[in-house]
Amino acid sequence: MIDLKGRSYLTLLDFTSEEIEYLIELSEELKRLKYKGISHNSLKGKNIALLFEKPSTRTRSAFVVAARDEGAYIEYLRKDEIQLGKKESVKDTARVLGRMFDGIQFRGYDHNTVEILSKYSNVPVWNGLTDKFHPTQVLADLLTIKEKKGYLKGIKLAYVGDGRNNMANSLLIGAAKMGMDIRIVGPRQLFPEDDIVQKSKNITEETEGIITITDSIDEGVEGVDVIYTDVWVSMGEEDQMEKRIKLLMPYQVNMDMLEKADKDVLFMHCLPAFHDIETDVGKGVFEKYGLDAMEVTDEVFESEHSVVFDEAENRMHTIKAIMVATLGDPISLYGDNILKMHATNR
Ligand code: CP
Ligand code: NVA
Repeated sequence: MIDLKGRSYLTLLDFTSEEIEYLIELSEELKRLKYKGISHNSLKGKNIALLFEKPSTRTRSAFVVAARDEGAYIEYLRKDEIQLGKKESVKDTARVLGRMFDGIQFRGYDHNTVEILSKYSNVPVWNGLTDKFHPTQVLADLLTIKEKKGYLKGIKLAYVGDGRNNMANSLLIGAAKMGMDIRIVGPRQLFPEDDIVQKSKNITEETEGIITITDSIDEGVEGVDVIYTDVWVSMGEEDQMEKRIKLLMPYQVNMDMLEKADKDVLFMHCLPAFHDIETDVGKGVFEKYGLDAMEVTDEVFESEHSVVFDEAENRMHTIKAIMVATLGDPISLYGDNILKMHATNR
């Protein structure tokens, strides 16, 4: 029987393949109930802190709506409005927040911060993105692929672009855990660290997943079911813009690339995306480098292949599942239906 009560979620390595499947199934159930307008209160009376060092639209909104749907109270704590780091260490902050809150979400720079929060707060801590990992995003991505394709094991996914960022790292581990065939496609200078690749390869020994790291677009995207990309410059790396444009321009996701994939290929992106010049950054890049898009063309982003807004919506359903599973009481809420459902699907 799967019981995730009290557990933190810092990277996908924290959960077994079976536990991830369970979280996806719980997300499906919670989504179905939300669509039917069935309300419930599995987090009633819980207090949740949302601690942010970096900006966010989706992650913050997903935690807020999911927590409210389940009856919890939420407090948004911006790093520059609290003592964190300036007058108080992360370790002391963790011990204070843990005395008041029942769960903590952290988004920030150093992955070590989220580990310290988890170690010293004594409450579940959820990683809403660090420089190294973005595990709540990948749970939403897995749910989206399952909804669109019907299954995960054996799905061929090419992640194209900055192969050493938080999304590439988390997708590698998530895909390995689900027995998928993942290809990281990008320039050698931006290949993932050996340690992450090795950990993912070790996982595939049990799950029969396949890991390929390549700089060849032909090898990487041929016949794939999903093409995934992310920004070329992640939060905190803004000074790398010129270098990244040079390195990654050949890897822009465009219609020519999609034609190498399966005809029903899905286009995915965690968002936000630079697919036009409707943003301040997009305009600046257009003026300086003459590019009207970066990692993905507007044509692909707006095409029938694109499932990016389903993916964004699924952030909320999956984050709800993580909070309900680690802090709430899914069994008293749904009887043991959710567990039976999981057992039947296996
Ligand atoms: N995908 C994602 O994490 O979006 P936000 O930065 O808006 O939270
Ligand atoms: N790699 C991106 C993901 C944003 C959701 C970043 O860290 O900025």
